[in-house]
Amino acid sequence: MTSLTAAGTERGQKRLVLGLLKPVLSLSLVFASFLMLHRLAEKDAFGLKAGGPRAWCGSDCFTFKHSVSTEGPTEQGAPRSRNGTAPSWDAQVLNCSEDASVSSQDWFRRLDSRFHQFVLRKHCRYFPLRINHPEKCTRGHVHLLIVVKSVIEQHDRREAVRQTWGREYETESGSVRTVFLLGTASTGKDSRNLQRLLEYEDRLYGDILQWDFMDTFFNLTLKEVNFLKWFNIYCPRTRFIFKGDDDVFVNTHNLLELIRFRTEERRDERLFVGDIISKAAPIRNRQSKYYIPKELYDGPYPPYAGGGGFLMSGALARNLFRASEAVQLYPIDDVFLGMCLQRLGTAPESHAGFRTFGVTRRRLSPMNSEPCFYKQLIVVHKLSPHELLRMWNVTHGDSLVCAFVLGSGH
Ligand SMILES: *[C@@H]1O[C@H](CO)[C@@H](O)[C@H](O)[C@H]1NC(C)=O
Ligand SMILES: *[C@@H]1O[C@H](CO)[C@@H](O)[C@H](O)[C@H]1NC(C)=O
Ligand SMILES: *[C@@H]1O[C@H](CO)[C@@H](O)[C@H](O)[C@H]1NC(C)=O
Ligand SMILES: *[C@@H]1O[C@H](CO)[C@@H](O)[C@H](O)[C@H]1NC(C)=O
Repeated sequence: MTSLTAAGTERGQKRLVLGLLKPVLSLSLVFASFLMLHRLAEKDAFGLKAGGPRAWCGSDCFTFKHSVSTEGPTEQGAPRSRNGTAPSWDAQVLNCSEDASVSSQDWFRRLDSRFHQFVLRKHCRYFPLRINHPEKCTRGHVHLLIVVKSVIEQHDRREAVRQTWGREYETESGSVRTVFLLGTASTGKDSRNLQRLLEYEDRLYGDILQWDFMDTFFNLTLKEVNFLKWFNIYCPRTRFIFKGDDDVFVNTHNLLELIRFRTEERRDERLFVGDIISKAAPIRNRQSKYYIPKELYDGPYPPYAGGGGFLMSGALARNLFRASEAVQLYPIDDVFLGMCLQRLGTAPESHAGFRTFGVTRRRLSPMNSEPCFYKQLIVVHKLSPHELLRMWNVTHGDSLVCAFVLGSGH
């Protein structure tokens, strides 16, 4: 997502003015030193780690390891409720009717008409699932669930994500699984054929979640709340979620390293990390895609994560679901999540590795073609499917030598 607030725009411009080489170097340094610090701390605390702690003192060595594994693969199959039936998707709002009580009110008549649809149907929150995968998180232990917002016709982006950072695989801590979040084709599209293609795609990959609401800009928040509810039902033991757009580059290795550091420091339970925008205010420029009229929202926004991608713990996501039920839907999904976090009393944490704003505005920016830049970071937006494949290939090839070698050396 591009910047949606006055603060975001200003930030983006500042970054461009700063020149291009300097930020590459300083960012790399920031992130390199961040990882170095953690690695040093890790060495200090567990000097014998290399020898394999479990080999000489068993699983009692590190109590935190214990606490981690309590959520491990304790049972197979779908989670059961007390009476023995598996909880399942129960939303059946097949026909979301307009809330007529709103339309007679004064403020509604003054409201910019492009918000009328949104306000009239704001009470419809959960929609039926057209394509579901109840088994996604229950086959083995899912360590990280990668959740990608996509739309029905962006098949090529999903394909590129599957071949790169969205690839499902097994790690020492559990498996990495991927789902794409979709609504239905918006009006004016060849919806029947698109739907058939999507169902075919899902038979091949088994990674599509589709809800029965129209995939429009103002409906993006529906994706947020329906996913949180879905996660709460079907992924009771999943440890972490990475949520991102289908046009970003994600360095999964760095992402998993960050998770590992936080888990070892026992700072993983309330984890919410991203590119955090603070002290932003609604955009009042009517020309902007992100324009919000005063009638809809007044006052500053709570801190929120730029939509390109963020990481959160499964435990936090479950609390976020409960908090979200008390928050009215808001047309900008990133801000809506910020409101839920605020209600929960959780401050999102900024991390230099998440670059969801500003860096790649200029097509010819060296950052767009500098593989070492991508090797240092966690999330970079915004790439075409071709650029994503190419950058993944280069950053994962043997021939790339960077000044700062990060990670655990593999
Ligand atoms: C089990 O409980 C759920 C809700 O907790 C309920 O919807 C369902 O009908 C119950 N099933 C039986 C067989 O009682
Ligand atoms: C949806 O509900 C409205 C009012 O409740 C009704 O007028 C309309 O016919 C319904 N549409 C469909 C497709 O069922
Ligand atoms: C959101 O989706 C619903 C269900 O498809 C639709 O009735 C509504 O018009 C959409 N809202 C917006 C603001 O596009
Ligand atoms: C990735 O790299 C390999 C070997 O260098 C090459 O054969 C392949 O075509 C590349 N793929 C893409 C998508 O660039």
